[in-house]
Order: sequence, then C-alpha cells, then structure tokens
Amino acid sequence: MVFVRLASWCALLALFVGLKGTIVVSFDYCDALEKSLMFFEAQRSGRLPADQRVKWRGDSGLRDGYLQGVDLVGGYYDAGDHVKFGLPMAFSVTMLSWGAIEFRKEIVGLNQMGHTLAAIKWGTDYFIKAHTQPNVLWGQVGDGESDHYCWERAEDMTTSRTAYKLDSNNPGSDLAGETAAAMAAASISFRPFNSSYSNLLLLHAKQVNIFIAHKATKISYD
Ligand SMILES: *[C@@H]1O[C@H](CO)[C@@H](O)[C@H](O)[C@H]1NC(C)=O
Repeated sequence: MVFVRLASWCALLALFVGLKGTIVVSFDYCDALEKSLMFFEAQRSGRLPADQRVKWRGDSGLRDGYLQGVDLVGGYYDAGDHVKFGLPMAFSVTMLSWGAIEFRKEIVGLNQMGHTLAAIKWGTDYFIKAHTQPNVLWGQVGDGESDHYCWERAEDMTTSRTAYKLDSNNPGSDLAGETAAAMAAASISFRPFNSSYSNLLLLHAKQVNIFIAHKATKISYD
C-alpha cells in the first residue's frame, strides 16, 4: 500500500517537473531520496538494528573505544574507509538535519521522515556517546594511514582502532563547532517528533559550545 502511494506521488512529481521545465526530463526524486537514505544505512558502523534494510551489512566496530575505556560503538564510516572521522560525520548530520527541517512537509508526504530521522539519529546517538564529559569530545576512531593500505570489509577489519579526543589540553574548535552545529540542527529536526530527544541534543550542543568558548578564551590569552 505504501509503495502504491509512493509510486503515484513519484509519478505526480515527475509530471510536475515535466510541465514546469523547458526540457522534459522525468526524474524520480522520491527514488533518489530513498536511495540516498539507504546509502547512510550502508555506511553504518556498530550493532545494526533488526529494521536495517541494507542486509549485506553486518555488525562491525563493536570494540571501538574499548582500549580507551569509553563506548564509541556506532556512528558512520567515512566514504570507503573504516575510519570514523568526526568532522565529515558531523557535517553530514548537519546537512541531513537541515534537509529534514526545510523539507519536512515533503519528506513526511513521501513517507521518508522515519528513515530520515533514523539516519540523523545514527550520527547523533554516536555524538552523544563521544561527548563523554562536558569538556571532552572524542573526534575520531581508526587510523587513516593504516586504513588506506588495506582492502577489507568493515565486518572483518584488522586495522588499528586508535581513538582521538578533544579536551582542555587538546583543542579543536572546528571539529567541536561542527559537532555542536550537528546536534543543534538535529535538535530542531527532532522537535516535532520527539521532544525529549530534541532536548537532550540541545543540552549536548550547548555544552560543546561552552567548551569551545572557554578554549577560545584560553587560547587568546595563552
Ligand atoms: C524519543 O527518543 C528517545 C531516545 O532515543 C527514545 O528512547 C524514545 O523512545 C523516543 N520517544 C518516542 C516517542 O519516539
């Protein structure tokens, strides 16, 4: 039933594009939206949920953070790597969140809001874990050098799971700022659907922002 409704919406959208444009191209934006969200599922690290649609992926990175004594399981791999880079991950979650805010009506209408929020949450649940203390933010798991020398599935990876963090002695306002922005934007996108999760994200975003402000002050006076 859902598919029938989706298909007719897609046909309408294609017709609309065809009528408005000078060149008649029938491009299926619903299909593109759905596939782009599937891409995020394929990039998932951690323990995959039962409703995972990309079935060829399995659990991976289940000991991330173990050596460091923190739980850093989850989040997204970067491109074809097994490294979890905080900056591109936070940027992607920020963009996904802005999409969900700006096109809420359209995404809801296409029955994709659940998948969109799940894609955002896969990133933000990880950011919440990585923000272990108000002034500590884990920003990377995995080593880019050794990772780029191997070719294996994330499920079988044998590469180093070194983890890196920002704290009072190791500043990184670009990474912290983007992560705060991701959680703030995600907080807005979750507001109409889950206010308690939205509040939690806002709390973390504010703490990371205060952390940056302190560091900025410290750096300028050091
Ligand atoms: C809101 O999000 C929290 C945190 O993920 C979750 O435990 C809770 O079930 C969600 N509530 C609703 C109504 O979806």
